[in-house]
This record gives sequence, structure tokens and C-alpha cells, in this order.
Amino acid sequence: MKLFDVYSLFDITPVQAKNCTITDSEGTQYLDLYGGHAVISIGHSHPHYVEMLQNQIQNIGFYSNSVQNPLQNELADKLGAISGYDDFELFLTNSGAESVENALKLASFHTGNSKVISFDKSFHGRTSAAVAVTDNPNIIAPINAQHQNVVLPLNDIEAVKEVVSSESIAAIIVEGIQGIGGIRIPETAFLEELRNICDQNNIVLILDEIQSGFGRSGKFFAHQYSGIKPDIITMAKGMGNGFPVGGILIAPNIKAKKGMLGTTFGGNYLACAATIAVMDVMQQQDLIHNAKEVGDFLMEKLQNIDKIKEVRGEGLMIGIEMNQAIAPIRQELLKKHHIFTGVSGQNIIRLLPPLTLTKEEATLFIDKLIETLESY
Ligand SMILES: Cc1ncc(COP(=O)(O)O)c(C=O)c1O
Repeated sequence: MKLFDVYSLFDITPVQAKNCTITDSEGTQYLDLYGGHAVISIGHSHPHYVEMLQNQIQNIGFYSNSVQNPLQNELADKLGAISGYDDFELFLTNSGAESVENALKLASFHTGNSKVISFDKSFHGRTSAAVAVTDNPNIIAPINAQHQNVVLPLNDIEAVKEVVSSESIAAIIVEGIQGIGGIRIPETAFLEELRNICDQNNIVLILDEIQSGFGRSGKFFAHQYSGIKPDIITMAKGMGNGFPVGGILIAPNIKAKKGMLGTTFGGNYLACAATIAVMDVMQQQDLIHNAKEVGDFLMEKLQNIDKIKEVRGEGLMIGIEMNQAIAPIRQELLKKHHIFTGVSGQNIIRLLPPLTLTKEEATLFIDKLIETLESY
């Protein structure tokens, strides 16, 4: 049977990975500044993570959400403490899109409204409501287009006010830092105004922290650079360091009803063990602080490179905007210097490394980038 051909693939076959290094089937080692698309948070195959998963599967790997699972409570307690949201409640899912889908559904249950405001260049996932609020017509199928949604310019508060003044809105959804959209950051004043508008109009404010959360930005959630608290926060990616897990944090004023949300696999023992291990390592190795420190170091060095048009980001979520198409530059970094990087659009290199990245590894990348840019 052939695989459904939807992905563009590099001709590289990783067979092993340790911390920030990937080894392929030829024995070549790569520096991972892509983190498997912002997923690897505590480094590949961290020993504590491996041990937690191994121990868990030897005891019990799966049962359903119809029995007591103390690991879910342990996860929730640790997450409340590490994130500063211990008064919120947690619903566990399996992926980013599923988190967004449930966040939007909950907002609609809570307000009785259907329409959602999202922002230009946003990406929120590929399930029905999530893709409808994503600003990319190419991935919205006719079956998804039934959703009521309006896309407004990011950081344009007047545009939001205008829509809210004439329509009933269920939710406003915004990424903590736009990832696929090119590392665009919502301004603090914009988030503060959104918070006010949502309070005044009974609208649910959803912060999508699927890519920017779990320490990547140098804060636990990127929106914590502002003082605001959203009503729902979506999570996935770095949460499980590669084990598929996601979740939403829900403000105390949004009340649960039996059966209103549900999932077979969400919150399973292995997903919980993976997430608990991630939080343990984050605390033991002070990784949020490392993300901030190494991220600042990288951005300062990048800002000194003439050929770069603009550097944007927080922590280890960094966009390097060039004047030219970056495909050949990324190709050379990968093939000649064995460095994986990410991308946004045609001319932005996106760095999403494990949060364990060292200044030495960052310096190696800077040296190789400068060398590569000499011929462009
Ligand atoms: C901000 C954001 N939201 C949602 C998603 C969707 O997550 P998933 O691919 O796990 O469904 C992504 C994935 O890249 C994302 O970056």
C-alpha cells in the first residue's frame, strides 16, 4: 500500500536522537534547530522521560476515561503550579487541533454564540472549527466553510471593536506568538484591549499556545509577557516531547457539564507520564530560563548579521526574515552543515530547537549561517 502523498519529505531517515542531535541511517549527525516542528521541549530521548514511559507501560498502558486515573490529577496539579494557572481546570486531548476544536466548542456552549474572530496569518489546526479560523483558504474544504468566522488584522484593535459592536461573538482566538504566520507577536496593549472587549461583551478569549507554550518563549506561556489572563488556553506540541498529547486550561467561570466534551485516548496513562516527565525535567534543568537566555543570545547575534532583514521572537521561538527566498539557504544548512531549521512562508527561517539548546550549539549555528550567507 502506498502512503497518501501529502507531505514534502527531505531524503533523510532519522534513526536515533539524543538531546539536540539527530542521527540518520547513514550515521550522519544533525543539530536539531527545528525540534520536530516545535515538539521537542526537553531534548530527544531524555533519560527521565524514557524511564517514566517504560515504567508506565509495564504497569498499565491504557484504560478509558470511565475509571479513576490519579496520573491525570498529578499532571493537573503540576501544570497548575508550573504555569501559574492553578485556579483553572484541565481537559486533556491528543493534539493541537483537537485542543482548539474543544476550546471553540466550549466557548460556543458557554456564550450560546457561533461566530469567532481570528487574525490574519493565523494557524490553529486542521479539524473543522480549527481550520475555519485558520487564515489559509487552501486548507479549508467546503465542509469546513460552514463555520462563521471573521479574520481581522493582528494588532488592529479598532477592527475588533467594529465587528464586536455589530455582531454576537463566541470567541476571539489569538496565538501567543504566531508560528506558521512568521513569528508575529501580538502587542501587550492589543492583548489588554482584547481582554477588556471580551469582558464587556461576554466573549471567550482563547490564547492558542500550542506552539508558543510549555516554556518555548522563555515564559511558560508566551502571553505571560503581558499581564492578561485568557479564558481558555490551548496546548500540545512541547507538552509531551513527542508523545501525542494536548489539552486546554479553562477559567473557573466556565462550568463543566457531564458529557459536554470527551475523547477516548485523551489523558491516557502514557500521555500523562510523558507530560509529567516533561514538567519534571523543565524544573530540574531550569529549561524555561535556558530558553530565555539562549534565545536572547541567539537573537543578539542574529541582529548583527547584515544580510538579515529582521529578527523576531521570544525565547527559543525565533524568526529570521530574509530579503530573498530561504529554500536554498536552508538546504545548504541541512546538506552541508547538517543543521535542521524550520520555515515560515518563502523568506523566514524559523528556529524551534529543544529548550536544552546550549550557547555552544547556538554559536555553531551562527557561524554556519554566516558562512552560508556569504554566497547569497
Ligand atoms: C498555533 C498552532 N495551533 C494549532 C496547531 C495544530 O496542532 P496539531 O498539528 O497538533 O493538530 C498548530 C500546529 O502547528 C499550531 O502551531
